[in-house]
Amino acid sequence: MAAKSPPMHKTRNHLPSNAKAVAIDLLNARLADGIDLALVTKQAHWNLKGPQFIGIHEMLDGFRTAQDEWNDTMAERIVQVGGTALGTTQTVAASTKLAPYPTDVYAIADHLAALIDRFADYANALHENIDQAADAGDADTADIFTEVSRGIDKQLWFLEAHVQEPTGHIRDGNRG
Ligand SMILES: [Fe+2]
Repeated sequence: MAAKSPPMHKTRNHLPSNAKAVAIDLLNARLADGIDLALVTKQAHWNLKGPQFIGIHEMLDGFRTAQDEWNDTMAERIVQVGGTALGTTQTVAASTKLAPYPTDVYAIADHLAALIDRFADYANALHENIDQAADAGDADTADIFTEVSRGIDKQLWFLEAHVQEPTGHIRDGNRG
């Protein structure tokens, strides 16, 4: 975490200061996760090996493009409500809720399992944040979380579709 809380900047945005404070905290939490997710998406894109290589390699590039846009939207919302977007390597490493990504895996199944774990954790945090932002009175931030959540749910589906059996059982990456 940062050594001290960044100052709140004055803005003509009429949201109550408590709603702004809640939104800034939630958005910075998901920004840290989102930057981490963007990095691990490329980590897998570069290092995976196996017969499905090219399809997954290219799919992950598309994921990353969308993630960069969502991270930018969340960071800019933080600033719009008077906060400081925390997007440095140091702040992200200190704040991310995602498990550290393995750097010693290569098989496609291992990368898919590692990605599914992290995408699922991120998706579920976003689902909670939609209601938390709305309850705090910031419908616009709730809308941003809804947009990101919808996109991440779709990316999670794309990942899980590679490992799901027709019964719906997930062979790898089952979180139990
Ligand atoms: Fe590439």
